[in-house]
Amino acid sequence: MHPQIFPTYQDLSSHVAQKVFFRIEQHLRDKNHMVLGLATGKTPIGLYAHLLALFETRPDLNLSGLVAFNLDEYYPIPPTAPHSYHSEMQRMFFGPLQEINPSFRAEQQTHIPHGDTPDIKKECRRYEEAIHRHGSIDLQILGIGTNGHIGFNEPGSDDTTRTRLVDLAPETIQINADKFFHGDTNQVPRQAISMGVGTILEATEIFLLASGSSKRAILQDLRERNEPTPHNPASYLLRHPHVRWFVDDEAWGEYKERK
Ligand code: GLP
Repeated sequence: MHPQIFPTYQDLSSHVAQKVFFRIEQHLRDKNHMVLGLATGKTPIGLYAHLLALFETRPDLNLSGLVAFNLDEYYPIPPTAPHSYHSEMQRMFFGPLQEINPSFRAEQQTHIPHGDTPDIKKECRRYEEAIHRHGSIDLQILGIGTNGHIGFNEPGSDDTTRTRLVDLAPETIQINADKFFHGDTNQVPRQAISMGVGTILEATEIFLLASGSSKRAILQDLRERNEPTPHNPASYLLRHPHVRWFVDDEAWGEYKERK
């Protein structure tokens, strides 16, 4: 893995936003269709802000061919809950993008698993089928959990996993409580519906973003691995032919060969 290393989070976010914007422009120009896989969490917030600024410079772009699939959604949670991934995405990206460019209709062009579904198996099947109806994901944006999770594929997830109900790891519940639920773990759902590692690996291209010292240990683990392992689900990306790793100095740190 040979990441691009940036001095700051903002430099990383701005650079990745330009690459994503170029990919969107290119796909819409060449085939008027682009399937974008999106992530939530704190890391992509800067990317979405810089992307919106770039979309503002091109109000002429016809975005009706842009389709977005999010990696995951908590379960159980109603889409209208303030900290559902539906609400997060609407707040930080889909709503502002529709304001900037009305050819993007969030309701029709975005897909996030339904955290209030009465039938999990049916919802997971529906989600996988919806992705395949659009061909495949052209570009998947990923963050990475401190335990190596991608989406909500926690340690123990291998490359055969598909969209399914997953149990959140205790560290994930604590971290998400601290970040989004005012530290109250009781408010954090214990499960989520997540694209599987296998689903993610079918993306044509993957951009993984990592920022901050909390990601240093898991990135160092990846640097030392030759073989993918379910213990660090992000390690399956090491086999993908078109992954780009974008990290900041804080996350990459000074590599210390383990004695
Ligand atoms: C959450 C999300 C992941 C995200 C990860 C890291 O669990 N389900 O998609 O990559 O946490 O989040 P952050 O970017 O806030 O560190």
